[in-house]
Amino acid sequence: MKPLFKGKHFITLQEWSKEQIDTLLDVSKQLKEEFYSNKDTTYLKNKTAFLMFFEQSTRTRNSMEAGLAQLGGHATFLDTSKMQISHGESAKDTATILSSYGHGIACRNCFWGVGNKYLREMAEHSTVPVMSLQDDLYHPMQGLADLMTIQEVFGEKKHIKVSIIWAYATSHKKPISVPLTQILLFPRYAMDVTLAYPEGYDLPDWAIEQAKQNALDGGGTFRITHDMKEAFQGADVVIPKNWGSWVNNQSDAVVDDLLESYRGWKCTEEMIALGSPEVKYMHALPADRGNEVEDSVIDGPHSIVYQEAENRLHTAKAVMAMTMGNK
Ligand code: CP
Repeated sequence: MKPLFKGKHFITLQEWSKEQIDTLLDVSKQLKEEFYSNKDTTYLKNKTAFLMFFEQSTRTRNSMEAGLAQLGGHATFLDTSKMQISHGESAKDTATILSSYGHGIACRNCFWGVGNKYLREMAEHSTVPVMSLQDDLYHPMQGLADLMTIQEVFGEKKHIKVSIIWAYATSHKKPISVPLTQILLFPRYAMDVTLAYPEGYDLPDWAIEQAKQNALDGGGTFRITHDMKEAFQGADVVIPKNWGSWVNNQSDAVVDDLLESYRGWKCTEEMIALGSPEVKYMHALPADRGNEVEDSVIDGPHSIVYQEAENRLHTAKAVMAMTMGNK
C-alpha cells in the first residue's frame, strides 16, 4: 500500500478534495476487511507517531494506538500536562523536535480560540504530517468515520436526510467541532442536511456560509431550524448531540441558565418515531445518557453508534497509512 498523500496534513477535511476523501474511504473499507480476515497489514512497519492529548479521550486515543500497532508501527501517547508544553515550550519547538524523531504527529487541542491555531502552527514547522485528533473547530477523524458509517448503511443513495440536532447535556462544555465538521462534509456527499439548535448555540457564520457553498457544489442541501421536532420529522439519520455555546459565550462554565432552559432538547423514543421508519441514530460518543438521549434509543434498534465508533479504527488507520511514510 503506497502512502498516496504522504506528508499531507489532516486538520480539516475541507482541505481534502472529494476524490482524496473517497480514497481514504476506499482504504478504510479495505483495512476493515483485512482486519476481519486477519490479514497482515504492516504497511507502516517500524513507523512511529506521537499522539499529543490536551484532553481526555477513549475512541481517538485507542483507535490511533491500536491502529498504528496493526499497521506495524508504534504510537507514543503524550499527555501534554506531562510535557514541557506545560512549562511554555512552543508549538514550533515541539513540532520540529517530534517530527525529527518519527513519521507523524497527531494532536487533540480543543481549547476555544487556541486549538486549531496550535495545530496549524505545528503543521508549519513539522516535517511529517500533522493529524488532528480534534480541535476547537474540526474533528476530521470523526467526520470520516461518520461518513463511512452512513455509506455502509445507505450505500450510494443520494439525498439522505441527515439532521444534526443540538441536545441537552451537563457532562462538560463540549466543543463545536463535531457538528461543524458534519455540516461541512455531508452536503459534499449530496446529503440533505438540517442543523437544528436553540437560540444561543450558533455555529460560526463562516461555517454556515461554507456549508451552504458545499451543498451547492456537492448537490446536497443545507438548512437551519430552531424547531427540534421538525428536525426529527422524516429524517433518515439523526445526530442529536450537545455542543457548547462557545460562539456566543466563551465562559468555561458547563451549566448555566441558558442550558437549563433547553432540557427538553433530548432524543427520546417519541422523537425517533417522527423519523423515517428505518431512521438511524448516530452519536460520536461519549453520550450523556439520560440527558442527550434515552437509554432505550441509544441501546435500541435504530442506533448505529457502535458501528460508528468501530469505524474510527478503520478510518484512523487509513489516514495514517495514506499520509505517513519513509523520511
Ligand atoms: N468521539 C470521540 O472523539 O471520542 P473520544 O473523545 O473518546 O476520543
